[in-house]
Amino acid sequence: SPAVHPAIAPLSYLLGSWKGQGEGGFPTINSFSYGEQLHFSHSGKPVIAYTQKTWKLNSGEPMHAESGFWRPKPDGTIEVVIAQSTGLVEVQKGTYNAEEQVINLQTELVGNASKVKEITRVFRLVDGELSYEVQMATNLNSLQPHLKASLKRV
Ligand code: HEM
Repeated sequence: SPAVHPAIAPLSYLLGSWKGQGEGGFPTINSFSYGEQLHFSHSGKPVIAYTQKTWKLNSGEPMHAESGFWRPKPDGTIEVVIAQSTGLVEVQKGTYNAEEQVINLQTELVGNASKVKEITRVFRLVDGELSYEVQMATNLNSLQPHLKASLKRV
């Protein structure tokens, strides 16, 4: 496989596959649990390719899926584009801290979303587990949690 581009080296801890469980909720919906797998890969270019899929824990039936590209910059900023299976698209901008292994993303743009106004995503690597929290704001509700999950390397 090609050498990791220096631009993505600070986030090379993401590369590979992660699997685990998450929990979702929002004031307007019933809370739910889900299974999830993430995959981060690279081709030697200064970009990390990202795919995600989720499923119902009891039946394995597919739920949400998404994919995109993560572009960390040497100055500690990062741009992420994500296309969701629901048709929604996100452009996220944020920062990463390579020492603390934390990534913070905030909405620059949400497209083709009737209700969603804003999305934030925080990823943390703690003791070898990758966890994240997703918050969203809708036309009716202010920014608050929709998803959290914890994933182990597979
Ligand atoms: C509901 C957005 C990821 C499962 C919703 C709603 C929105 C939304 C706008 C409706 C809330 C309302 O009516 O007030 C998003 C966004 C996501 C995301 C922006 C990613 C950033 C996920 C994922 C799953 C999921 C990964 C499953 C693993 C659900 C479920 C509901 C829901 C089960 C309630 C039932 C339904 O409306 O289908 N989501 N979602 N969502 N979401 Fe998400």
